[in-house]
Amino acid sequence: MRAPQHVPADNLPSHVTIYEVGPRDGLQNESTTVAVQVKAEFIGRLAAAGLRVIEATSFVHPKWVPQLADAEELLDRLDRVEGVRYPVLVPNERGLDRALDKGVTDIAIFGSATETFAQRNLNRSVDESIEMFAPVVARARESGLDVRGYLSMCFGDPWEGDVPIEQVVSVGARLLDLGCSQLSLGDTIGVGTPGHVTALLGAFAAAGVDTESLAVHFHDTYGQALANTLAALQAGVTTVDASAGGLGGCPYAKNATGNLATEDLVWMLHGLGIETGVDLPALVETSVWMAGELGRPSPSNVVKALSA
Ligand code: HMG
Ligand code: MG
Repeated sequence: MRAPQHVPADNLPSHVTIYEVGPRDGLQNESTTVAVQVKAEFIGRLAAAGLRVIEATSFVHPKWVPQLADAEELLDRLDRVEGVRYPVLVPNERGLDRALDKGVTDIAIFGSATETFAQRNLNRSVDESIEMFAPVVARARESGLDVRGYLSMCFGDPWEGDVPIEQVVSVGARLLDLGCSQLSLGDTIGVGTPGHVTALLGAFAAAGVDTESLAVHFHDTYGQALANTLAALQAGVTTVDASAGGLGGCPYAKNATGNLATEDLVWMLHGLGIETGVDLPALVETSVWMAGELGRPSPSNVVKALSA
């Protein structure tokens, strides 16, 4: 299989951690139920392809995200690989209890920079959702779990339009203050552009947030995800979220399509000489297999090119 020629560029990290969200963000929007053994095999193949952080599922209300109603059964079936972390989304204490029952070691809470999406996704205002998260983060930390915070609608909101940078920094700082070890900045509907990424990361730095504690989470709706990723790497970010095959979208965010495809990200990073630990041919094979399971081709350009 063809590989990119290594031509490094200045001012970029030597290693990037890919936070794989395919099994969670990728599948949560699928209308046809994916069998639990297919999900378990997907996660196993992603680990075998070298991914070291694989977000497995969500402990949300099963009526809100029916596709992930099998979270307990999936975790029972997981063939855990040494050195791989399998975070899960947890919105509230009920979700945390369910995750703790299954021996989960990494969770992620998920807030919104805008009021409309907080209501639509969590049935709460921004303030109420932070009140809901506070005991989750505190109890998770007491139990020795690692907690990531997601912040959605950082670059635009389908109902509210433009989202002020100060508003994003203000809600993001509140999530970090709860005790999250990392904040992932979500472009939920994929509308951001590179200058916006640079400005937002600059505003977090100016507010005293260490770039080390930030990750980026780009959906590729407008084809901007890779350009935005490069801008984030240039600003010092070293954790990038992506979804194998470019699967995904949020069922509660109008116009959200798939995440940045992990293969597209790996092609760019390897071309820049940045280590990821990912075996690209094995990953492409996984996404081709998953596309067969879902009954439609992967939207990833790299998957299309390498499997042609
Ligand atoms: P609610 O209806 O306000 O819940 O939903 P509630 O607290 O009023 O509880 C109502 C009932 O639900 C109770 O049962 C609870 O026990 C039960 P009853 O006492 O009536 O029998 N319940 C639960 N059951 C199982 N597991 C739970 C749970 N919680 C309550 N965890 C809630 C509030 C947060 C639960 C709901 O809004 C929800 O589940 N939302 C999840 C939405 C979601 O998963 N969205 C997709 C993920 S976010 C995303 O994709 C964006 C991201 O990728 C970043 C980006 O792209 O920007 C992360
Ligand atoms: Mg997302």
